[in-house]
Amino acid sequence: MSAPSDIRSAVVPAAGLGTRFLPATKSVPKELLPVVDTPGIELVAAEAAEAGAEQLLIVTSPGKESVAAYFEPAPELEKNLEEKGKTAQLAAVRRAPSLLAVKTVYQYEPLGLGHAVAQAEQALADDEQAIAVLLPDDLVLPTGVLGRMAQVRAEKGGSVLCAFDIPKAQISPYGVFDVSDTDDPDVKQVHGMVEKPSAEEAPSTYAAAGRYVLDRAIFDALRRITPGSGGELQLTDAVQLLIDEGHPVHVVVHRGGRHDLGNPGGYVRAFVDFALRHPDYGDDLRSWLAARLEG
Ligand code: G1P
Repeated sequence: MSAPSDIRSAVVPAAGLGTRFLPATKSVPKELLPVVDTPGIELVAAEAAEAGAEQLLIVTSPGKESVAAYFEPAPELEKNLEEKGKTAQLAAVRRAPSLLAVKTVYQYEPLGLGHAVAQAEQALADDEQAIAVLLPDDLVLPTGVLGRMAQVRAEKGGSVLCAFDIPKAQISPYGVFDVSDTDDPDVKQVHGMVEKPSAEEAPSTYAAAGRYVLDRAIFDALRRITPGSGGELQLTDAVQLLIDEGHPVHVVVHRGGRHDLGNPGGYVRAFVDFALRHPDYGDDLRSWLAARLEG
């Protein structure tokens, strides 16, 4: 699915320390941990490319250069695989560099998601009117929601976010939307957004799921917010500021699956889910798991 041409850059905030994934993330950025054999960042880059993005803007921090380096061609390795006739491996190695152009911008201080996204502005062309943002911890399945979000922006203008309808008891780690219905049951108008509310204070059960199509106006809003939840500059607060100023904001409600790669428990589920669907490993894993669960 291709997005309207006004979304050319996909921003991926990847500057975090990965503290929920220590000790592995002492030396391997969590974005490079494999889901079966493919780093999570490649899955997210493929999703952005599928939605029509031409450029991936990785927001990184000093010491995490290996995340962007993963997208560089590896001519020596390719030559070696080519000589040995390992065509499947060769295709796998060439996939990431061929998806889209990759550029790095730095976030030098961990001041929050809003601050991370703000760093992307310097890398945009003057005529880019909107960006996509993909949080690499979140896998939203099946892919395609970004294309739908871009369509909604083309119809209604403004910014469009992705929402999941989740049980109220699980709502507090998320940004939560105050919404009203539109003619389409999967598209809601957003009247407010609050970061990490308690279950009692949550305005709905619609939670932000790590996919955003944001009008360029977000950068101006990001310059005007003050620290919010957790003392951090929150993307949610910039979206709320835009709403306060009359900017149209909608959500596309995604009814599919989701994985959180940012912590070991969620990562294991994603790994098993992808492995079960893998042509080489799926059948064997399924029977082993069945036996293991009985034993
Ligand atoms: C971030 C956002 C939050 C969103 C969540 C989705 O929170 O701030 O609004 O619901 O991602 O995963 P974080 O998970 O970084 O605390």
